[in-house]
Amino acid sequence: EEEDFEKTYHNYNQMLLTLPRAKGWRAQHVVKYRSHWLNPNTALKGALLLQNHFKPKPTDTFLAAFMKSGTTWLRSLLFATVNRSRYDFSSHPLLTTGPHAVFPFLDSYIYDKHPIADLDSLPSPRLFATHFSHDLFPESVKGSSGSKFVYIWRDPKDVLVSKWHFMNRLRPKELPVLTLHEAFELFCDGVSEYGPFWDHVLGYWNASVEAPNKILILKYEEVKREPGVHVKRLAEFMGVPFSEEEGEGGVVGEIVELCSFDKLRNLEVNKTGVSRFNGEVVVQNRDFFRKGEVGDGKNYLTEEMIERLDRITKCKFEGTGLEF
Ligand code: A3P
Repeated sequence: EEEDFEKTYHNYNQMLLTLPRAKGWRAQHVVKYRSHWLNPNTALKGALLLQNHFKPKPTDTFLAAFMKSGTTWLRSLLFATVNRSRYDFSSHPLLTTGPHAVFPFLDSYIYDKHPIADLDSLPSPRLFATHFSHDLFPESVKGSSGSKFVYIWRDPKDVLVSKWHFMNRLRPKELPVLTLHEAFELFCDGVSEYGPFWDHVLGYWNASVEAPNKILILKYEEVKREPGVHVKRLAEFMGVPFSEEEGEGGVVGEIVELCSFDKLRNLEVNKTGVSRFNGEVVVQNRDFFRKGEVGDGKNYLTEEMIERLDRITKCKFEGTGLEF
């Protein structure tokens, strides 16, 4: 087995020398691996370990999203929903640990402990968050006996602006600031970490059309409009629907409140704490909570930019059933 890891790391080193490169939003470069743009030092390594060494369990659930589409929020909602009988809302782990500590971010966690993290010892059923595209998962995970995915997507105008803010916060000071104009052009070309955005959404969407019991698709704007309705959908999808008694006791409302933007943002851990994703990426928790609104992209983009981005989205999603 040790030899297998060596082979993967050898392949990884070879790939670093040969894969096409483009400008990165956080680090200097992203590399193109199987039509996806990935950070060469982090996500690419994670993707190779996932494909070659991940041992799935049928009870695994992956919370997947393109960056800045609502991972932090959905993490909290998913964790609070599936663990609702374990924790009291007044002393809930989310109040003290922050959403990113309640279950691992697969993409970096998988290689955090060389050569691979011990994922078998995680409590079962395992929850993982990920930004990997659906097609980067091995067949053993994607297949019909495999795991569940909860996917959240969001208006790309808001994703672009949210990501632009976030990545500039993380960008090392020695690199020049990424301008919105540059970020926009790169985004339209599909070039940003885990991009292209549209392929990411379509990959999960198409897979969910084939196996709706395995992949639940949520949309940020809709969850925002009716959070309770979507928490109920989430519970049903996870096989733990709310009972009548819970309905009367207002449990759904408690989960929605606990995970709301204002509640989470104002917790001490999210005002002053940090989340470490590996040696390279350390994020101030407060950077996961910016505005939490629908439509903020329009406050930054010109009419022309909005038209161009909407046109690309309409064209890419046309005929798929995805409502934009
Ligand atoms: P904005 O930058 O538009 O405010 P991710 O969690 O995938 O990194 O996405 C981050 C985006 O989700 C940010 O969007 C952030 O403010 C928003 N967000 C974080 N927590 C939220 C919550 N509890 N409810 C709604 N939006 C939230």
